[in-house]
Amino acid sequence: MEIIIQPDDKTASYLGARIVAQVIRRRCETVLGLATGNTPLMLYKELIRLHIEEELDFRRVTTFNLDEYVGLAPSHPSSYNSFMWENLFRHIDIPEHQIHIPDGLAPDIPAFCRQYEGAIKAAGGIDIQVLGIGTDGHIGFNEPSSSLTSRTRIKTLTRQTRKDNAPFFNGEENVPDHVITMGVGTIMDSRMCLLMAFGEKKAEAIAAMVEGPITASVPASILQVHPHAVVLADEKAASLLKRADYYRWVYENKPEWQKYK
Ligand code: PGA
Repeated sequence: MEIIIQPDDKTASYLGARIVAQVIRRRCETVLGLATGNTPLMLYKELIRLHIEEELDFRRVTTFNLDEYVGLAPSHPSSYNSFMWENLFRHIDIPEHQIHIPDGLAPDIPAFCRQYEGAIKAAGGIDIQVLGIGTDGHIGFNEPSSSLTSRTRIKTLTRQTRKDNAPFFNGEENVPDHVITMGVGTIMDSRMCLLMAFGEKKAEAIAAMVEGPITASVPASILQVHPHAVVLADEKAASLLKRADYYRWVYENKPEWQKYK
């Protein structure tokens, strides 16, 4: 894993956007795995700016989102479908048929999940997966105890996640219990993972995932064995890392050819 510590969420998000843009510019067709929540908001803003001001082209980009709430129509204001259109898709030139978000209203959820896995495979697999991390160590909505080889499926949210997401729903009681999420195994198949974490409330989860044991109790910890995982944290989220000085030194002393442009 590469651990990059940046002074704040803004600097970290700009770097994250540069990393994603570099993947898009290097490949003629790119498959992006996308996340929702507060964490990637500034990264999406910066991608939009790169599209408008620096001709970042999304016409040959295909996207797959990590998750969606079961029971919410795509048009529901709190759905992740609405979130993605509002915060990214409507501002860029990606063709609509290249966008994939789990269907919260799928009548046959297991069949839908198999189809979603098939669509990722048919697209050639995910080139770069953007991830946040839950305060409970989840990635996607793979809550603690999720199988580390799981595929896209239905999951039940923890009380902690429902509390964390309550602001998007006007109260915890309105947060759906169930979600469709890419599995940990689905995420691990991505060629590159970019996990971002900002703020003190993520510090424990980041310390556990980076320096703790690999365990289903902290699903993000499986990224320790991913061949190309980058953790992009601000100082606050990195504050409990024991080897923070080493990670800083590594980043500052990267060989020129390895640096992000
Ligand atoms: P957040 O959520 O970006 O809103 O903090 C992250 C997550 O739950 O994965």
